[in-house]
Amino acid sequence: MSTELMLERIQHAQNVIEDNRDVVQKGAMRQKYHFMPEVGWLNDPNGLIYFRGKYHFFYQYNPYDSFWGAMHWGHAVSDDLLNWTYLPLALAPSEDYDDHPQGGCFSGSAIEHEDKLYLFYTSAANVGNGVVQNQSMAYSEDGIHFQKYDNNPVIACPPAEYEQADFRDPKVWKHGDFFYMVVSGKKNGFAKALLYRSENLKDWEFFNVLAESRGELGYMWECPDFFPIQNNEGKEKYVLTFSPMGVAERTSVYLIGEMNYNTGKFNYTTVGTIDWGMDYYAPQSFLDAKGRRIMVAWANEWQWMPWWQDWGPTYQEGWCGSFNLLREVRLDKDNRLAFPPIKDLENLRSAEQQIKDLLLTDEIFLIPTNDGTIFELQMTIDLKKTTAKQFKLKLRCNETLETVVTFDLAEQMLQVNRDNSDNWSKGISKSSLLLQDDEKLDVRLFVDQSSVEIFTDQGKTNHSLNVFADNTQNKNYLVVEDGQLFVHEITSWKLATNV
Ligand code: FRU
Repeated sequence: MSTELMLERIQHAQNVIEDNRDVVQKGAMRQKYHFMPEVGWLNDPNGLIYFRGKYHFFYQYNPYDSFWGAMHWGHAVSDDLLNWTYLPLALAPSEDYDDHPQGGCFSGSAIEHEDKLYLFYTSAANVGNGVVQNQSMAYSEDGIHFQKYDNNPVIACPPAEYEQADFRDPKVWKHGDFFYMVVSGKKNGFAKALLYRSENLKDWEFFNVLAESRGELGYMWECPDFFPIQNNEGKEKYVLTFSPMGVAERTSVYLIGEMNYNTGKFNYTTVGTIDWGMDYYAPQSFLDAKGRRIMVAWANEWQWMPWWQDWGPTYQEGWCGSFNLLREVRLDKDNRLAFPPIKDLENLRSAEQQIKDLLLTDEIFLIPTNDGTIFELQMTIDLKKTTAKQFKLKLRCNETLETVVTFDLAEQMLQVNRDNSDNWSKGISKSSLLLQDDEKLDVRLFVDQSSVEIFTDQGKTNHSLNVFADNTQNKNYLVVEDGQLFVHEITSWKLATNV
């Protein structure tokens, strides 16, 4: 019975997608090589998994509007992590516990067990006594058609004194004889990562508070993820990532430490930021077929919510939201994480343009970037031969608009300013800038129709942001105002589009 209602809702949503697809696909601001919704609104990546030879990508999805609403799970598959094929939606709200305009099938994760694919998600509803969030399960034989478990929710309420309205985003994994689940919870105004365990994926017991904020890391950790990682000397650590609420601009945090499976406690020693930019939220990771840990995030942030600012300009085109580029997660021997874009992206490159040993003195240099709107750029600055205290990259410029990336070598700061990017976006993101051995600075950046992603220090310091530039904004400059800049190498490529 309940399966029927979900199937009906999925079919209805598919019809709406079908009816709107052709018009929405024409939108001028649509991304060219980033994954995005066919029509409508998308937020967090969910349930990423390599299952039976294909990559499955699920996501928070509202097919009915280009803003947030009752949450469905969108679904796409890929063979190469670059090109994605949309499949019918995996989950739709259909039960008392998840059928609500302000609720639905919230974020979660996937796990394979006995050749079946299991999805764990937060079922969110309000049956008159306030918002109730709890954890539910769905499963599939073929990885395409899902059925909700009859005894949902599998975790009906958080431990005593925790808030029922802030109990969400289960990430499930297996270790030894047990399945484990980390879920975000809130108690006394502080964020807690709650650890559950189970022997059969159906019956879950609360184990311990895996890690928590005492105020310094906010009041709620959305979309926690937890995984082991080894550095290249084979030393294993554990990593907890989440998007904290209540910590101003920090939208994606990682903690590195040791996991004790006897007590269920994670003792962390390192706190870092995955991305300092304005549009990197709710990252989730998975293992690919080669054993790489890959991470992807929603290229947005809740600033977009109407009670905050605006719907964002793309809603006029019938869509909103895309995912950041997939990144690999690596642990270096200094116990820091790096998030370089996956190597597979090199397969998109063509039309290489390279300049070597470029000396710029107080000048504005037009960088060759093919059409200037869809490209990758890599550059190495020789710091020994550079006297300028700072230099800038001005991206997606026309006569009046520009996105300004300032590399302050004297103060060792990196700043991205989009106050004058597109007559809509606002904000400045800032981080420190690592100058490797005071000898060189590596910069890599990806520009798509509506986004800029900047990686420095081999992916350890990153800024991702949306820029809704039109195609008159197709000039990209290197600007040196107070001395000499020695560019050892600057290379750009056109990137293949998959739309
Ligand atoms: C994060 C989030 C999650 C929630 C989902 C709802 O962006 O708020 O905590 O499960 O979005 O769509």
